[in-house]
Amino acid sequence: MKRIPLGQTEAPNVVLGLMRIADKTDDEIRHLVATARDAGIDFFDHADVYGRALHGCESRFAEAMQLSPSERAEITIQTKAGIVGDGPYFDFSYEHLIESVEGSLRALQTDYIDILLLHRPDALVEPEEVARAFDELEASGKVRAFGVSNHTPRQIDLLATAVSQPLVANQLQLSITHAPIIAQGVASNMVGTDQSLTIDGGGILDYCRIKGITVQAWSPFQAGFFTGTFLGSDDYPELNAVIDRLAAAYDVPAIAIATAWITRHPAEMQVVLGTTSPERVAGAALGSDIPLSRSEWYELFRAAGHKVP
Ligand SMILES: NC(=O)c1ccc[n+]([C@@H]2O[C@H](COP(=O)([O-])OP(=O)(O)OC[C@H]3O[C@@H](n4cnc5c(N)ncnc54)[C@H](OP(=O)(O)O)[C@@H]3O)[C@@H](O)[C@H]2O)c1
Repeated sequence: MKRIPLGQTEAPNVVLGLMRIADKTDDEIRHLVATARDAGIDFFDHADVYGRALHGCESRFAEAMQLSPSERAEITIQTKAGIVGDGPYFDFSYEHLIESVEGSLRALQTDYIDILLLHRPDALVEPEEVARAFDELEASGKVRAFGVSNHTPRQIDLLATAVSQPLVANQLQLSITHAPIIAQGVASNMVGTDQSLTIDGGGILDYCRIKGITVQAWSPFQAGFFTGTFLGSDDYPELNAVIDRLAAAYDVPAIAIATAWITRHPAEMQVVLGTTSPERVAGAALGSDIPLSRSEWYELFRAAGHKVP
């Protein structure tokens, strides 16, 4: 498993998201996590809103794993705050962020969160309030590092007017088929193609590279916004033909090639897996360090329907 820089530390470039474990048994969760650990994944992504109830998936993880203090210390636990599911709406107020983290600590049965992300931009954000919450959470040792998710460059700049901690990560939707953060730049300034339109706030991937913010790719195998996977889908025959050919050439499962399309990018991004299948986790982990050539990478990009002008 390749490891990449993340803030002041480093982390695997394939990590396990636990958004979909609400209905899994203890044994299933332990098997999933053990498979990830065997593959070199020691980084787990949560959010307060994952699960049927608030903190549901965080609780399932802790109940199933029953981590000893030394086992807890071996792993990185990342969680998120800022979405109010009952609405929905977004809330970056001091009170909401503190309450969310206290709830996550209880649910995860731990006394610290390694990384806290602001989940989705709050239109009513007041950077000073976020800063007050971050300062308190850092000073109390309850949160060790901070980041954002689904944020534009300007939204990050706005937070930085008050927040003093470095923002170490920006978690963004990215798969071969859902790739505006990459595809827009390839077709920039071209009249008549939607791909040239800026829908990511303008160059968010380049911005994160410049600022040393690790991009974490969520829904890496989803065709669109929770529309099902493109892997093996009849809607993507050309893409799957290329994936299958490269999978055979590199002697890995197809899911490893879909993973490698992201890990091969020099931005040193992290792929946030959402599968609950241990077999798929092990397969995806094989894509951590596949040296796809430029022509292979671009062939996958074109086969997914993106323009290379
Ligand atoms: N920051 C954000 O706003 C945000 C939003 C969404 C998600 N996330 C994070 O990103 C993680 C991943 O998101 P995701 O679950 O949407 O991503 P994903 O890994 O692209 O999708 C996984 C889902 O696809 C299914 N699937 C079906 N066939 C598959 C195949 N051949 N290969 C792989 N998966 C297949 C999986 O089912 P099986 O379980 O049966 O394999 C699972 O339901 C989440 O766990 C969460 O941590 C963050």
